[in-house]
Amino acid sequence: MDLTALRKDFPTIRSGKGVYLDSACQSLRPDKVIQAIVRYYEETPSCGGRSVHGMGAKVSITVDETREALADFFNTDDPDCYSFCKNTTEALNTIAFGLPLKKGDVIMTSDSEHNSNHVPWLILTERRGLERKYAKTTDEGEFDLEAFKESMDGTVDVVSVQHASNVTGCVMPVKEITEIAHDYGSTVVIDGAQAAPHMKVDLNDIDPDFYCISVHKMLGPSGMGVMYGRSDCLEKLRPLMYGGGTVGMTAYDSVSLMPHPEKFEAGLQDYAGIAGTKAAIEYLSDAGMENIEKHDRDLMRRISSGTEDIDGLSVLGPANPDRRGSVFSFNIDGMSPHDIAVILDEMDGIMIRSGLHCAHSLFQGKKLTGSARASVYLYNNNEDIDRFCNALRQAAEIFGGKS
Ligand code: ALA
Repeated sequence: MDLTALRKDFPTIRSGKGVYLDSACQSLRPDKVIQAIVRYYEETPSCGGRSVHGMGAKVSITVDETREALADFFNTDDPDCYSFCKNTTEALNTIAFGLPLKKGDVIMTSDSEHNSNHVPWLILTERRGLERKYAKTTDEGEFDLEAFKESMDGTVDVVSVQHASNVTGCVMPVKEITEIAHDYGSTVVIDGAQAAPHMKVDLNDIDPDFYCISVHKMLGPSGMGVMYGRSDCLEKLRPLMYGGGTVGMTAYDSVSLMPHPEKFEAGLQDYAGIAGTKAAIEYLSDAGMENIEKHDRDLMRRISSGTEDIDGLSVLGPANPDRRGSVFSFNIDGMSPHDIAVILDEMDGIMIRSGLHCAHSLFQGKKLTGSARASVYLYNNNEDIDRFCNALRQAAEIFGGKS
């Protein structure tokens, strides 16, 4: 990966708009993605899957090609197993509310989920009388596979877990979780929002029933997500929304739904977003997911060694930077997370996130009111990390330690 050349592909880096360390929220976008979006509006601003004129046909081809690119990227055979949506949240809601779950059915998630993989199931426990169980993670945030094995039995209907935490960075052993859950006949749902941008995800190997991603965390357009499901699972899943595009034929008193993926894509879609998704997947493939994973790890190591002498620093998640994926969540004694984020931005244009990171129950469990979080991606370089570490050290010296 030629980092110097790669950084030139990103307009906000070229124009020196600060140090972006908030990629776990949204990534920056390279020219190729932006151009694909603009090209749609300039050249083919029409509808896919419906209009048969030449412009519409080009859009339909792009939609098909994007599904093919996704199937290839995740090492699966059938492009029709990928449907487009707004984000991981929408994909997880579609699954939670679309599975034929009834009173007394049991859902197990980990105890460190993002709200998107917590709240839909919680609502279902309230509305449909489902039972909820939690698989334990350790103090550092690692999934406790032994405890999971012991807690599993034939009563668990759905196991829904994150592939990587947006707070601790821990990568969960989803292949082993899936194997165990399948042995007990459970449906397996994986929130891939924080893993798919940063590592090679082989869905053929992991073999979950469902896998959800947010494309805006992987160089793609804002508000683009993808729901993957195995064909047999998608056949049984009810859509969240109905309308144009989802139906084969309707009459005044009847309707037949289209097969997947169309049955999950009600109404006109974000065709510019779909074109941008294809460009993002191509960009990541060219960079190489193994290279990206290694690069993230190197940057995490540099953050660790660059911050270890900062007084009052406490890190959430594993002490070993190799276990923290691409995120570094932390607190400084005497400073609120929001103050840290504002001060770093003011001091040297360093953009990080602060707060509860949509993982309220995780923070509640740890009796913490939040954290600051720096998250890295393929376009960050050593200089970004050094600027972050130096600004943080200075901020801690000036503002830290006074509660
Ligand atoms: N879930 C996103 C994050 O962690 C928004 O920042």
